[in-house]
Amino acid sequence: RVDEETIRSIPKAEVHVHLEGTFELIDLIELARESGVPLPGPAATLFDLGTHFAPDTTDTIDAGSGVGTGGLSAFLRFLDWQCGLIRTPQQASALAYRFAARQSASGIRYTDVIVNPTHWSAWRGRVGDLLSALAEGFDEAERDGLCVINIAYSLLRTQSQDEATTIARWLVETRPSRVIALSVDGDERVAGRTAEKFAPAFDIARDGGLRRTIHAGESSGAEGVWDAIRHLHAERIDHGVRAIDDDELVAHLAETGIPLDVCLRSNLTLGVYPDLASHPLAELMRRGVTVTVNTDDPAPIGTRLENEWSLAADAYGWGLPQLIALAHASVTASFAPDALAAELH
Ligand code: ADE
Ligand code: ZN
Repeated sequence: RVDEETIRSIPKAEVHVHLEGTFELIDLIELARESGVPLPGPAATLFDLGTHFAPDTTDTIDAGSGVGTGGLSAFLRFLDWQCGLIRTPQQASALAYRFAARQSASGIRYTDVIVNPTHWSAWRGRVGDLLSALAEGFDEAERDGLCVINIAYSLLRTQSQDEATTIARWLVETRPSRVIALSVDGDERVAGRTAEKFAPAFDIARDGGLRRTIHAGESSGAEGVWDAIRHLHAERIDHGVRAIDDDELVAHLAETGIPLDVCLRSNLTLGVYPDLASHPLAELMRRGVTVTVNTDDPAPIGTRLENEWSLAADAYGWGLPQLIALAHASVTASFAPDALAAELH
């Protein structure tokens, strides 16, 4: 059995983690106090806070356990509330810096972090300022020898075609510091199939040199994964686990090497699978699909990357060689600069 200490010591990348999901309880309490915002209820744990964001008719994933008791859409509203507490560039930079320090503590040397500006209500109309403040925090962290972090700018699935193309054009024209990719997240079943709507934005992104990573096959079935590959030039699929329902898709993923960025505890917490025994990770790997193992939203889910890897190792009987291979896959799948990737390999 490989312990978490050993897992932390393996140099690795993380490629599926949302900055919106990295606020620890103490961060939220301090930010709420600074902004004069009341907590939604008693705050003994992040779990307690999350349960105040109840399910409503837009919630499509069945209740899981933990902070996701209200399903994915209620969980996303919790993220809105948290991000709404960040109002100043100093707060944004500090959050970014702390995230880099936590990544480093898990032995993560490079991260593609997902940032979805629609959650950050105080920055409407000045998303460029938010990105600059985050980049400053990441710059300072890198100067201090902490984890190197680039940003995947994420569209929310319910955004319009016009909004998406405007954003893609703006990203390509202005190339905000550290923004390396365009992404899509949010609840797939609220918006329906959205790939065709976002295709023009992803054409612009690809032609303009931005990388592409897409959430699919979490709250959608395998068709969402096909759509991301066919219409959005996806280089990676975030989650993608529902690909298991389509043999042709599994074969295609194995053949092309498009990685699935899997998040085990997230899937259990948000009710995508009821337990590890029914989770398809091992079967996908057995059939030749490249996978990475990630945290998704570590703070509200109550996990760290070493917990996720250890959970997988225990469930599937992986030893050190398999975990080193997993680290290798994480670096290859990442959008890390070539020199850093070479150093980590
Ligand atoms: N944003 C943050 N976490 C997410 C998830 N698990 N699925 C879709 N969008 C998200
Ligand atoms: Zn995610």
